[in-house]
Amino acid sequence: MDSSTEQSVNHVGKILGAGELVGMPTETVYGLAGDAESDTVVAKIFSCKGRPSFNPLIIHVASINMAKRYVEWNDAADALVKKFWPGPLTLVLPRRADAPLSLLATAGLNSVAIRMPDHPVALALLRAFGRGVAAPSANKSGRISPTTAQHVRDEFGDAIFVLDGGPCRVGLESTVVDLTEGTPVVLRPGAVGEEEVLDAVCLVSGKKEPAESSTSQAPSTKHPAPKSPGMLLKHYSPTIPVRLNVAEVRAGEALLAFGDAIPTEATHALNLSASGDVVEAAANLFAMLRALDRAEHSGIAVMPIPEIGLGIAINDRLRRAAEK
Ligand code: TXA
Ligand code: MG
Repeated sequence: MDSSTEQSVNHVGKILGAGELVGMPTETVYGLAGDAESDTVVAKIFSCKGRPSFNPLIIHVASINMAKRYVEWNDAADALVKKFWPGPLTLVLPRRADAPLSLLATAGLNSVAIRMPDHPVALALLRAFGRGVAAPSANKSGRISPTTAQHVRDEFGDAIFVLDGGPCRVGLESTVVDLTEGTPVVLRPGAVGEEEVLDAVCLVSGKKEPAESSTSQAPSTKHPAPKSPGMLLKHYSPTIPVRLNVAEVRAGEALLAFGDAIPTEATHALNLSASGDVVEAAANLFAMLRALDRAEHSGIAVMPIPEIGLGIAINDRLRRAAEK
């Protein structure tokens, strides 16, 4: 890396440290990157992308040790990273109980999608920053993924500083493999093929199974192939009932409030945003739902949240939580 790139990397590391978003090159596609440990920064990522729902994001790390701060490691992970990291393979692993990671980044799930990108500029940035970076593809919702710095600038204009790492070598998002269920399941196809993944895991664990047998016996075929990315995705949902758009709180219920006109009868209340800011509310959503999800409450009553900006994603997630 030349000295001017090195300077830009350090500059962008500081921008990330200040809680701003940047365009980050990777070998797959450019990412819209921000501090994965901050709920406020992650809320900004969703807001900037204009996503109508909260999909969990991939956490990018500079090393296996950095990954181990966030996830419970296992043998399959070891086998896969030996072969494919750094590279276009994302592993979904159990979230460590003490992981200093934004709950919004993982959409409240107990699992984390994590990868080490194979791009010298990305790795230098992640090392300079020293923490994990959450980064979905750097495009607005519903548009195609950017593979050059100019694509990202076209998408976000001057609002986002883009670290130019040249055109992306792979040009297609990473393969996402779920390792939380004991056997690997490909959730999203990508540059690393399913058979390569299964081979790597089987060989190391000693269960020698030839790749050809994968149609009948390989672990992944226990599950139907996902028809679209994220189809197998679980959603976080509280264990107690959730009631939406409430004007008053029933006896025993906890209140998830929004705005400053809180029902006076509420005894256990947390406020998503007293000032009525949907980005602040998004940052607080999963942490507050978890805090109120206690057996001593008969349910969680949620005040109305406007269907604007991130309010749309918040309401989408709350409706799923209320469905049961
Ligand atoms: O190549 C890539 O993966 C790019 C570059 C920037 O690294 N990133 C990317 O991120 O494509 P995004 O947010 O567009 O896609 C993340 C994918 C989604 O399909 C999401 O459902 C899945 O990863 N995912 C994230 N966390 C998950 C989890 N805990 N469990 C299951 N799937 C998860
Ligand atoms: Mg994307």
